[in-house]
Amino acid sequence: MIVFTEIKDVREHLRAERLAAAKEGRELKVGFVPTMGYLHEGHASLLRSARMDNDLVVLSIFVNPIQFGPHEDFERYPRDSDKDMALAKREGVDIVFLPSVNEMYPQPTKTKVQVAELTDHLCGAARPGHFDGVTTVVSKLLNIVAPDRAYFGQKDAQQVAVVAQMVKDLNMDVEIVPCPIVREEDGLALSSRNVYLSPEERQSALVISRSLRQAEQVAREQEEATAEDIVAELVRTIESEPAAKIDYAEIRRFPSLESIPGSMRVKDVEGKLLIAAAVMIGTTRLIDNVILTTEGVK
Ligand code: PAF
Repeated sequence: MIVFTEIKDVREHLRAERLAAAKEGRELKVGFVPTMGYLHEGHASLLRSARMDNDLVVLSIFVNPIQFGPHEDFERYPRDSDKDMALAKREGVDIVFLPSVNEMYPQPTKTKVQVAELTDHLCGAARPGHFDGVTTVVSKLLNIVAPDRAYFGQKDAQQVAVVAQMVKDLNMDVEIVPCPIVREEDGLALSSRNVYLSPEERQSALVISRSLRQAEQVAREQEEATAEDIVAELVRTIESEPAAKIDYAEIRRFPSLESIPGSMRVKDVEGKLLIAAAVMIGTTRLIDNVILTTEGVK
């Protein structure tokens, strides 16, 4: 495993690897997993998919300051380079790209990448500018690594939708591969931010996955269930936990993220549905979701 901190070095290395493969008459497939580090089994599952599908796996670790709001947790975002390197080695990563803030954003920088509409809802509404930061850094990383495939976790379902839209709109030559949410045995979706939770808060946080499971069950089992019923079920369960404060609890089409009329029966919606929640547990904001296909609902 080779670690690079400079853009020119990672580019040069990848160019040489591609050239060497071409000389042997092979096309080198590069899989890319962009992360902010503090890696867990969710990231490991992305790396495993990348390992299976590609000849070379590149992992980036960069806590991207421009996707954090002024009062968010950029400074205290968890970091553990040694543990990250051990996990990367274990998962057979070939290249780790570990740039500094100055390497990624030499000043002054005047360009940002912005996806409209999809970013108006859910986390985009609660975290203004967040997705501009994500799409800007993901564009830069995709330009640097030029992968064939890039892997993203479905826990950030809106991020997957936004990045896929950006790649399509900008004709970027990369396949976006969404990967399923990885959960603890008790249902809690893995997140680097889970480290902020006290033992009591961690217990309270279970209400999020429980509420989504229950909402999913209503959608699947109750023929007449409307979009409003699903949201009501979600809200009712989350509000039963005193330590939980809802930021949003919604049902939308996926990946367009268009709203669904409250009175519409869920089984009448065509395509995929996203049931998503963002909940404050103490000072920690957690997100989770389930994606349903209408075939699954009918
Ligand atoms: O999902 C994340 O960890 C980040 O949003 C990403 C995609 C690495 C961009 O900073």
